[in-house]
Amino acid sequence: MSQITEKVAALEEEATSRIQAASKKEELNELFAKYLSKKGEVSSLMSLMREVPNEEKASFGQAVNACKNNVTKAYNEKKEAFEKEELAAKLANEKIDVTLPGNTLQQGHINPYYLIIDEVTDIFLDMGYEVVEGRDVETDRFNFELLNVPKDHPSRDMQDTFYISEELLLRTQTSAAQAHTMCDKNPKGPIKMICPGKAYRRDDDDMTHSHQFAQIEGLVIDKNISIANLKATLELFAKKMFGEKREIRLRSSYFPFTEPSVEVDVSCFNCGGKGCAMCKGTGWIEILGAGMVNPKVLEMCGYDPNEYSGFAFGVGVERVAMLRYGVDDIRRFYQNDVRFLKDYVGK
Ligand code: PHE
Repeated sequence: MSQITEKVAALEEEATSRIQAASKKEELNELFAKYLSKKGEVSSLMSLMREVPNEEKASFGQAVNACKNNVTKAYNEKKEAFEKEELAAKLANEKIDVTLPGNTLQQGHINPYYLIIDEVTDIFLDMGYEVVEGRDVETDRFNFELLNVPKDHPSRDMQDTFYISEELLLRTQTSAAQAHTMCDKNPKGPIKMICPGKAYRRDDDDMTHSHQFAQIEGLVIDKNISIANLKATLELFAKKMFGEKREIRLRSSYFPFTEPSVEVDVSCFNCGGKGCAMCKGTGWIEILGAGMVNPKVLEMCGYDPNEYSGFAFGVGVERVAMLRYGVDDIRRFYQNDVRFLKDYVGK
């Protein structure tokens, strides 16, 4: 073997053994650059051809090719070995235990307060009422003036108001929807509507007070409507809502937009009227305010009080929900605690 061919064999020996001994991928990459890249030592061997005597050129060429093939083969084998190792490590790391329990999906629930709104709404829809959508931002005119609460009226203090401007406010009662419905009705004629929605008052929140709460307003206007119609309607509502055996009683009260005005109690659905903690021993639970629409209100909203009369009522949604579901703190309805919310599914 000529000297120069020996050189090829030595380089092949050196390159393959170093490649086989490489312990890291980075090291292998460096060896590739050193021997097999375009300017690497193995690739450059062909440039020695000039120094090889003619009769040896053929065997030299073969030796260089063999060297290149063998070193490349060693490189490929090593590279594959590293890749296999890498994959094995990855698989070991990312092992999935299919026997582990999966993550349970938290299901959303309807706030019990909406369950009550739906229930009350259904009862009145069955009686032929129409559902009216009110608005949370009201004018002083619809929230107060048209409901017979002039600017200096003391009852404004009963409903401490969130004012947005002198004229705009967050409605303190869904009764504002009464005034809208009457004013919008053209030509004037019978009305039978309910309006579920939010009301806002400047209150310090505690277990029984909240600065925002829901009411369901009801309004019926027609010819010859009397307080007997109001009583019969609310009695039917109480029975459907709280049970067949329930009775109601009306107590005299005051609202500027109704005359006469009443507070309505339902016989206690917990003790049946005997007296318990829920009804504070009285046998009765107050559930809503109501009354005959004040003739002044009818007139201001465009109805002739000599021709038309009507009744109105306002149910406190949270109050009913608290009684129905035994909730002791009104703030729970707004805290979005899923433990609370999911307690009422399907009740
Ligand atoms: N708006 C009254 C309140 O918020 C309730 C009510 C409605 C009373 C309709 C009478 C008639 O207290």
